[in-house]
Amino acid sequence: MISDKIREALNGQINMEFNASYIYLGMSTWCERHAFKGSALWLRMQSSEEQAHGMKLHHFLLARDCDVELNQIGKPPACYESLLDVFEKAYEHEQRVSESIDAIYKLAFDEKAFAALVELQWFLTEQVSEEQVCREIVKQLRMVKDDPSAVLDLDRELSTRATAA
Ligand code: FEO
Repeated sequence: MISDKIREALNGQINMEFNASYIYLGMSTWCERHAFKGSALWLRMQSSEEQAHGMKLHHFLLARDCDVELNQIGKPPACYESLLDVFEKAYEHEQRVSESIDAIYKLAFDEKAFAALVELQWFLTEQVSEEQVCREIVKQLRMVKDDPSAVLDLDRELSTRATAA
């Protein structure tokens, strides 16, 4: 059985994943409106991934015979200063998600909730990769600064990465 504490924490994480999906969709919308088609595609795919993360936890709670509370999702930001700003915010968000997963993992560890630990293991690994990818994009965008042709090259590269993934 899963304790109420862990169930609540996992419900909160489901909300955070769906919230992330909506944030990425908002970022994708901004990119599309500012002619960054490659980034828009990348962020749209990221949005779908976040939804899949939420569903993974949704399935897990149901498999453990727990109630799932689908809470309200906040309105995502609609305005960004630049493509760099978009990816800096994405990176910050991924860091917050990692902190949240770490905290739930610790809770499950303290309570010896072994099945939850195994489920959360996947998320720990995923966060390492998600943070790394966002951090690298931020570094590249900082490197090229305001050079429009370099920014557009990076944007094109993101569309290739998105398609390859
Ligand atoms: Fe599901 Fe990017 O955290």
